[in-house]
Amino acid sequence: MSSQLKKVKEIKDSEEFSLNAFVGEGNLLCTQGMSLHTDEIALLEKWKIETIQLSDYLESERKFIHAFIENYSEYKKVLRNFTKDLEHFYNSISEEHKIVFPNFDEHFLKIYEIFDTPTNYIVFYIHTKIKGKNYEQVAILTAFYSVFIAMRLNLAKSEIRKCFYISILIDLGFLRRSEESFLRKDKEKKISRENFDFLNFHIQYGLNIAKEIENIPRDYLYYILTHHEYLDGSGLNKISGEKIKLISKIVTVAHEYVYVTSSFLQNCFPPLRLANGLIFLLRHKNRYDSEVLKAFISVMSFFPPGEILLLENNRYAVSIKPNRRDPLKPLVEVVSNANRSLLRETETVNLIEENIQVSGLIDDEKLRKNIINSIYRRI
Ligand SMILES: [Fe+2]
Repeated sequence: MSSQLKKVKEIKDSEEFSLNAFVGEGNLLCTQGMSLHTDEIALLEKWKIETIQLSDYLESERKFIHAFIENYSEYKKVLRNFTKDLEHFYNSISEEHKIVFPNFDEHFLKIYEIFDTPTNYIVFYIHTKIKGKNYEQVAILTAFYSVFIAMRLNLAKSEIRKCFYISILIDLGFLRRSEESFLRKDKEKKISRENFDFLNFHIQYGLNIAKEIENIPRDYLYYILTHHEYLDGSGLNKISGEKIKLISKIVTVAHEYVYVTSSFLQNCFPPLRLANGLIFLLRHKNRYDSEVLKAFISVMSFFPPGEILLLENNRYAVSIKPNRRDPLKPLVEVVSNANRSLLRETETVNLIEENIQVSGLIDDEKLRKNIINSIYRRI
């Protein structure tokens, strides 16, 4: 597979591309042999798109399994190494050793690079591999989502890197308090996922721990303090909207989505399905920045990768990648025939190109496991 980046300012009028050209992660701009004209190049510049990706990938894009197999071991390695280093760092905190600010640049750069390619199926991978059952997994999911949102918003790389680091530091407050005491189901306290007041302690505890970290940038303390603050001023510390910085707004959306969809807080309330987690955020849209929310939906689509769908042609499909042009029509792997019998050979379908609607979400965990396992069995 060959793939290269080309600077928009270097594209000449009517220059013919020898490879397919993509904008962002997988949005086809033009196919091999076509060219762009001055007005189209000007549009790219107006949209502040600095580079396009040239790749021979188009054919494989239509074959998810093929591309997923190609990338699978890389995803696995990224996740394993990141988890290992994160566990090591968190252990240094709970054991109260001298805490040194971690260097996770290598993990950040890997995630950044993967998300920026047309073969990016990383969201499908993390949704089918990480359940968010402990601190590490909550931090990892938050870090992935924050980076994806920040990339969609075209933030500078240094700012995206900051989103990544902050995501792994915001919940330090859980590390020195017994899990028993705060995750115990306590009906008296009327715990609800509608607000996270019962978790107020983790902000203060987190700040105390963060202050002990050698070389922590001072502004990171602000981000720990504001990571559950809302634009409408109804957050944990009632900090008002205009005082909340963009990075904080990004991390809050990513982090709270993880809280409501992961099993981390399952003793307090049952985790929501991924698609319902987005509806939860939308139901509380006054809390969140609308541009950040929009970017997150374009990263996830309304049918996040890993969800099982029923298509209007009566087939089951699994969502594998969002289409930026239409969050209601993701790229899917069709896994059944019209009688809903599962197929041995699945087929990748772009719902926009085929103009197929999603009729509904399938809420059947057994079927979901079956379908996901059958995809992994082919690797
Ligand atoms: Fe938190």
